[in-house]
Amino acid sequence: MENIENIKNPNNELFLAASQAKEKYYGKKVFFRGLIEFSNYCTNDCYYCGIRRSNKEVHRYRLNQEEILSCCAKGFELGFRTFVLQSGEDPYFTDQIMTKIIDDIRNSFPDCAITLSLGEKSYASYQNFFAAGADRYLLRHESANEEHYQKLHPPTMSLKNRKECLYNLKEIGFQVGAGLMVGSPFQTPEHLADDLMFLKELDPHMVGIGPFIPYKDTVFAGEKGGTVEATLLMIALTRILLPKSLIPATTALGTIDPRGREKGLHAGANVVMPNLSPVNVRNDYALYDNKICTGEEAAECRQCIEKRISNAGFIPDFSRGDYYLVLQ
Ligand code: 5AD
Ligand code: FES
Repeated sequence: MENIENIKNPNNELFLAASQAKEKYYGKKVFFRGLIEFSNYCTNDCYYCGIRRSNKEVHRYRLNQEEILSCCAKGFELGFRTFVLQSGEDPYFTDQIMTKIIDDIRNSFPDCAITLSLGEKSYASYQNFFAAGADRYLLRHESANEEHYQKLHPPTMSLKNRKECLYNLKEIGFQVGAGLMVGSPFQTPEHLADDLMFLKELDPHMVGIGPFIPYKDTVFAGEKGGTVEATLLMIALTRILLPKSLIPATTALGTIDPRGREKGLHAGANVVMPNLSPVNVRNDYALYDNKICTGEEAAECRQCIEKRISNAGFIPDFSRGDYYLVLQ
């Protein structure tokens, strides 16, 4: 693996090629998304995740519709034009409740993009959400290798179903985000190659790539985490394979390295997702240990990250930031 110092060096050919691929479509722009983590209840039990069902140590919370709307309003005032509504797989939020929330956001903020990240749902549910006005959906595939996928998830889950959800979302018309954790337990370079080939085949609009970070109350508590270097390598390769994709410099990357998000942008990422969730629930949405930005108010977070982006030589962009083709 490359020496870490080379990663910031513009002469590093891989990162240079990734940056050029990105700039061809998006220039130096970095798009902002306001993240609202509205429930940490989850019926799933993924072995790596801090909010998995079996973790009895988590204090569970749900924001109600009014609270979610007020996060959007605060975000709108701060300039955000994309809201990402993320939760565990929480059965409380039925299609009926969810479509009402989406519909309200759509009517209150007509020029904003609504991104959902609610996990695996039926074709009909995805259709309902789309009809209510959601534009985008994030659902990481986690691993495109069947055996590896099974080692990260309980037997109730399957890669086949995950892939089907992603293809369904695409067919319905969502801008779709797939993605994976780098350095997750049992992952080999061959698995990462499988991930890249799957990404090329699915051709998603967005790809979330962050390091795996062990969390204390999970099956993988004692496992090693992913490295900055390997994560940057995967970001760069993904960018080169899918030059028009929107790739976040993830919070997880910023968690394992204080300059991780900047490094991610230099390796080909072009999105950041500051948190708009109320500060009093931030700590409870802990998917992994030592998550950053849990104490900052949304306004502080926005300012901090905006400054970091400018200092790194990029242009903060607060437009909806749609996928390139959609702009045509
Ligand atoms: N480390 C890093 N990322 C994690 N996620 C869940 N648990 C962890 C962890 N321990 C990621 C998963 C999921 C996304 C919402 O967060 O990839 O799709
Ligand atoms: Fe599956 Fe959280 S329990 S991602």
